Amino acid sequence: MIARRHLLALAGASLLPLGGTAAAQTAPLVAKAASPDGTIEVQVATDGDGRPLYSVTRLGAPVITASKLGFILTDAPKLERGFRLGAPVIRSSDETWEQPWGERRTIRNRFTEMRVPLTERGALARRMDVVFRIYEDGLGFRYEFPQQAALPRLNVGVELTEFSLAEPGEAWWIPAWEWNREEYLYNRTAIDAVGAAQTPMTVRAASGLHVSIHEAACEDYSGMNLSRAEGRRFRAALTPGLSAAAVELATPCVTPWRTLQITDTAGELVESSLILNLNEPNVLGDVGWVKPMKYVGIWWDMHLDRKTWNSGPKHGATTDYAIRHLDFAAQHGFDGVLIEGWNVGWDGEWFGTGWDYSFTRAYPDFDLERVAAHARAKGVQLISHHETGGNGHHYEQQMEAAFAQMARLGQHAVKTGYVADAGGARVTGPDGKPHLAWHEGQPMAQHHMRVIKAAAKHKVAINAHEPFKDTGLRRKYPNMITREGARGMEFSAWGQPGNPPEHEANLVFTRLLAGPMDYTPGIFGMETRSPDGIATTWAKQLALYVAIYSPLVMAADLLENYEANPGPFQFIKDVPVDWAETRVLNGEIGDYVTIARKDRNSDVWCLGSLTDEHPRVLTAPLTFLEAGRRYRAEIYRDAPDADWKTKREAIVIERREVTSADVLTLRLAPGGGQAIRFVPIGRGRRQ
Ligand code: NOJ
Ligand code: CA
Repeated sequence: MIARRHLLALAGASLLPLGGTAAAQTAPLVAKAASPDGTIEVQVATDGDGRPLYSVTRLGAPVITASKLGFILTDAPKLERGFRLGAPVIRSSDETWEQPWGERRTIRNRFTEMRVPLTERGALARRMDVVFRIYEDGLGFRYEFPQQAALPRLNVGVELTEFSLAEPGEAWWIPAWEWNREEYLYNRTAIDAVGAAQTPMTVRAASGLHVSIHEAACEDYSGMNLSRAEGRRFRAALTPGLSAAAVELATPCVTPWRTLQITDTAGELVESSLILNLNEPNVLGDVGWVKPMKYVGIWWDMHLDRKTWNSGPKHGATTDYAIRHLDFAAQHGFDGVLIEGWNVGWDGEWFGTGWDYSFTRAYPDFDLERVAAHARAKGVQLISHHETGGNGHHYEQQMEAAFAQMARLGQHAVKTGYVADAGGARVTGPDGKPHLAWHEGQPMAQHHMRVIKAAAKHKVAINAHEPFKDTGLRRKYPNMITREGARGMEFSAWGQPGNPPEHEANLVFTRLLAGPMDYTPGIFGMETRSPDGIATTWAKQLALYVAIYSPLVMAADLLENYEANPGPFQFIKDVPVDWAETRVLNGEIGDYVTIARKDRNSDVWCLGSLTDEHPRVLTAPLTFLEAGRRYRAEIYRDAPDADWKTKREAIVIERREVTSADVLTLRLAPGGGQAIRFVPIGRGRRQ
């Protein structure tokens, strides 16, 4: 049910009419509205020069102080001042929707919407609406431009949207504009020491309030970064496009939502569904073919340099090795097998070029038809791999044929890849020719949309690496199932420093707020090419299956490491991949987190807890379990001497009976973790 009403509030004394000529005009308005529960309030006003400004309070305390809205255009006067605030239109909405798959089954979408019409004074009289959706746990706002003669196109040079954080505090962020795109370790600095940051950027204010700045529903726009103008004032910094304009649109058009998740605790940020709620409902209809899956693959072998993607004596993707993986998957209950290096094109310079790739032709030692037939016979999905070297232009010439071939072979998922330095991707320009581009500019956003739509036509789900950032498009296009877009486990395989023990505790409260990540956990093998190897204990590797949500999740290690360690491997076999509920039991950014999730297809619950380099003792009340029911807790915990540096493998596996009345003590080693599976024992109630 949607209730409509109008709300006007009077201007404050400091909000003067436009200087000089405007003396006779009525005083400007302040538009304000609050979330349905009254927690978050947004105000919009114009300053004395008609500059639109918004501010946000939570429980009456300022969160965002007066921050600018507007644009500098490349082919028309800027949209920045001289605006008159019109009467805001306010409505509220409360509905519950169901995810086809996800971290929870149902999501409540309850918000107050305030549309603030802004009209330029003077001859042009251009119109720009700013639409706010205000939730209990934050807000989103976007610009909407009606079609208008005075603004036929919106060619954005600079988006002037600001985020002035009211309180000092700390920020967790990765740098923008660097060569390795999103694959950086998180910085933890004072808010006023942030440089140019990517989003999500998460801050913890001095009062303890948590705020994460990101965006939602970016389909046809450049990705937003944040550049610190001064103090705690940040401005949107759009990723460049192909011309002087970062964004080129024709009116009518809308921008993505600029989002602020605002909560008391770090855990509530993770529980927030704001980004998904701001996206549109599923447009693909029945998506039963999009299947959450656990998968193994011919992958870690290459990262350890035991095998190669390219042809030759070490070629990984051979028919025999593929069949070995398919048989292993079938035997151990995995749904998918990823095989990288199956297709021709890896022999030359593929990194950042991609011209040689065929997405339909296999290497001669990989019998695609036979491997695909074996997969079908075993009931295992053969996950395809389309590394493009960042060359979206080249990929688009072939993707239709590639997806059609996949459909014919019964393949419903592909891992795409865009390995190229920032600014070194390739897209088709307006002239039909390839142009170098940024991974998160508008042309790449458009490329990814073409891929998502072409894949959907052939019932193919996408796991994109080196992707465009996640802005929640999986709600509208559920075949955009997961992606990378951060430093994955692979960094700990290479001959350079890998991911430090705090990395995952950072990811959960930053990158993961955007959406699922294909982090590729489950590494037991002790040797990598990195000096520190894998900086977690084995128990923490297991905890990652619960803590880092991804509907496609890999058991990333070599098969022999699983065969040699059936004890801990059992958790990877048992852990569900599609969830009915998610609860964060505790957590602090970069330090630790404990998450419990309920299986979508049974009454099983799982818990994953992890810490950074510090050992910790955490408590986990089991109140999420069904009251009165008995459960067998299958516990995979760090042994007393476990340590990521010296004894990663020291794990204790034990069982005990628990109920919702129990409170578990979780002892986590340095770089450690704990994973638990709770299996109901009959229906009986304990007396
Ligand atoms: C980088 C991806 O993250 C990795 O998973 C993949 O194996 C390589 N590119 C090759 O495509
Ligand atoms: Ca990568």
